[in-house]
Amino acid sequence: MSDYTISINGQFVEERDANISVLDHGFLFGDSIYEVVRTVNGKLFAADRHLKRLHNSANSLEMPLQQSDEWYLDRWRDLHAKRASGESYLRIIITRGVGPLSLDYTQCEKQNVIGIAKPLNKWPDEDYAHGCKVVLAEVRRNAKQATDPAIKSGNYLNNVLALKEARAAGATEAIMLNVQGHITEATTSNVFFVKDGVVKTPALKEGLLEGVTRGFILQVCKDLGLTCEEGVFTRDELLNADEVFITGTTRDVMPVGYIGREKIKFTPGSLTIKIANAYHDVLHDPKNQM
Ligand SMILES: Cc1ncc(COP(=O)(O)O)c(C=O)c1O
Repeated sequence: MSDYTISINGQFVEERDANISVLDHGFLFGDSIYEVVRTVNGKLFAADRHLKRLHNSANSLEMPLQQSDEWYLDRWRDLHAKRASGESYLRIIITRGVGPLSLDYTQCEKQNVIGIAKPLNKWPDEDYAHGCKVVLAEVRRNAKQATDPAIKSGNYLNNVLALKEARAAGATEAIMLNVQGHITEATTSNVFFVKDGVVKTPALKEGLLEGVTRGFILQVCKDLGLTCEEGVFTRDELLNADEVFITGTTRDVMPVGYIGREKIKFTPGSLTIKIANAYHDVLHDPKNQM
């Protein structure tokens, strides 16, 4: 039995019947957007922030959402309710819809909404206790002036190529530089590092997704009285950091223990642990659950 629970335009379907036309521009051109919400105690975590980003992605591609916010929230909730037990990983994909075989999308009238749920990923305990292994990818992050990484689109080939490098090196994630050689983000997570007591993360203008977790971590740092700089950082600054961690919806705060090829080792440091613990409280705060 498949671990996936699937809905198309609000109707639950078996995986074998979950079909979308080959003329959907989401399939043809990666012309789609998506969001992943997780549950905490069976409730949607930070769904308001994910909805906001969904709107931003949609508007950046001139494909304004065709349903109400409540409708999308209900899809996430239905997917979770349909799953038997445990916490859920809830993905909603919105495609441009079916149209002529042409890059011109003006005749794609009806967006398709695909929901896919599965059990929330469990990353190895080892990665939290001693830090995960990452690589610095050779492949560069798309420029903001190209397919802007701020758009959470179905066009993730750049990240697919970077993750291939990570997996070839036995690493869990790949950190990408932009064409200027500055740190941006990893394939499905944002990057933070600590140097001399200051927490640092690449600024959005470097070309990266504004992670929901990243946003919470910036707030957590403020609440803890830590200095946190959003800036422009080179590969060498990252390699010379005291602590490094990555953040994302399924990973929370995951310390980095090793950067491959360069063979740089880190041990999860006191600030990473402090921030991870404070983020745990954010996750379990009922005001962030819907
Ligand atoms: C490219 C990229 N960066 C960062 C993130 C982390 O974002 P969030 O914290 O909203 O999960 C993701 C999430 O999948 C991502 O795809």
